[in-house]
Amino acid sequence: MKTALITGITGQDGSFLAELLLEKGYDVHGTIRRSSVDYRERIAHLEGHPKFHLHYADLGDSMSIIQVLNKVKPDEVYNLAAQSHVQVSFDSPEFTADVDATGVLRLLEGIRQCGLAETCRFYQASTSELYGKVEEVPQNEKTPFHPYSPYAVAKLYGFWIVKEYREAYNMFACSGILFNHESERRGETFVTRKITLAAARIAQGKQKKLLLGNLSSLRDWGYAKDYVECMWLILQQPKPEDFVIATGEQHSVREFCLYAFRRAGIELEFVGEDENEKGIDKATGKVVIEVSPDFYRPTDVVNLWGDPTKAKEKLGWDPTKKTSFEQLVNLMVDADMAKVAVERASEAVRTNLAEYLEKGIVK
Ligand code: NAP
Ligand code: GDD
Repeated sequence: MKTALITGITGQDGSFLAELLLEKGYDVHGTIRRSSVDYRERIAHLEGHPKFHLHYADLGDSMSIIQVLNKVKPDEVYNLAAQSHVQVSFDSPEFTADVDATGVLRLLEGIRQCGLAETCRFYQASTSELYGKVEEVPQNEKTPFHPYSPYAVAKLYGFWIVKEYREAYNMFACSGILFNHESERRGETFVTRKITLAAARIAQGKQKKLLLGNLSSLRDWGYAKDYVECMWLILQQPKPEDFVIATGEQHSVREFCLYAFRRAGIELEFVGEDENEKGIDKATGKVVIEVSPDFYRPTDVVNLWGDPTKAKEKLGWDPTKKTSFEQLVNLMVDADMAKVAVERASEAVRTNLAEYLEKGIVK
């Protein structure tokens, strides 16, 4: 029976990975941070499971990392913890570097110092953001990196330090270069979830308008539940390697809006250009989407498109047999339609958040 340690277990991916590993019979340990509010909603259903355990640790705190590694002695570590919001990394670049770059080093060195280097396999949550200002399309494992945000620069350090520990200390340490993956559990300020929540609220008369940034940005969006399977597969290979995980399909933010609003019952038409572009509800003629430069980034990554050939060949993971783009949008909208319908108890809070989003205060 294997023991896994997941950092970032309270996040979108951490919660899906914990479910997958529990299904496989693992003893699952996760790290959490102290917070003044309850932020464990994604894993609340797992608490109380006899093989599910939580420990306090922070990637900024070596002592807490060493303590948990010594206690758990994991066979596999999945490092999913990060300040994961690209736009926020422009506001908090030093914190982002500390957690997303130095944090990876702290964990790898902790594994070594706890005498686990030969037995413990290590997965690093790397990212398509490394390709940034892309140098070729689509992007594969050989595409040169050109990080284009403080987040991506920090993650680039994480990628290289994993490679370094693999080569210097012969550790089974790998990076999954994952393209964007979304779900009904996605954080509410990432663009897909912001759109599906707004579509649901607008369809139910609880929000008037959605403000977005660059509508032309292109992403290769997959379903998070499908992607955590690859994290596990990467650590089950005979030798440690890095893999691109993507669907091989690309869509714009504008297109995501069209599909999401349609699923919520609103047919959209986009008119105008750049900052003057608007999404109009065809049935009522009302403007429901506007562009706000508040959501533009100092440098924006606009053309991510992954080539998952290596994952197909070596992991046997075929994205064409997984959740499609339309299925992903539909499942997110359906979940948010249900969530918004029973939002009454916390309606005031929600309305405030919607207003903050509208005013561009919350990115
Ligand atoms: P997420 O929902 O934002 O979750 C991030 C997790 O990291 C949360 O559990 C958070 O804990 C934890 N965390 C943040 N700072 C920490 C710190 N200092 N010490 C310990 N834990 C900390 O992110 P996600 O979408 O699940 O992504 C998981 C990982 O994959 C991240 O590393 C992200 O950068 C990477 N990634 C994501 C995507 C994607 O499209 N989702 C694509 C490529 C790579 P709290 O709950 O306490 O904040
Ligand atoms: N968040 C946000 N909010 N993004 C917007 C908005 C908006 O109102 N309007 C347009 N966008 C554009 C962004 O400019 C970006 O080009 C694109 O939508 C996607 O933004 P996000 O959903 O915030 O995700 P991301 O691609 O920057 O980062 C996510 O994917 C990375 C993998 O490529 C995160 O999950 C990262 O942690 C992950 O590494």
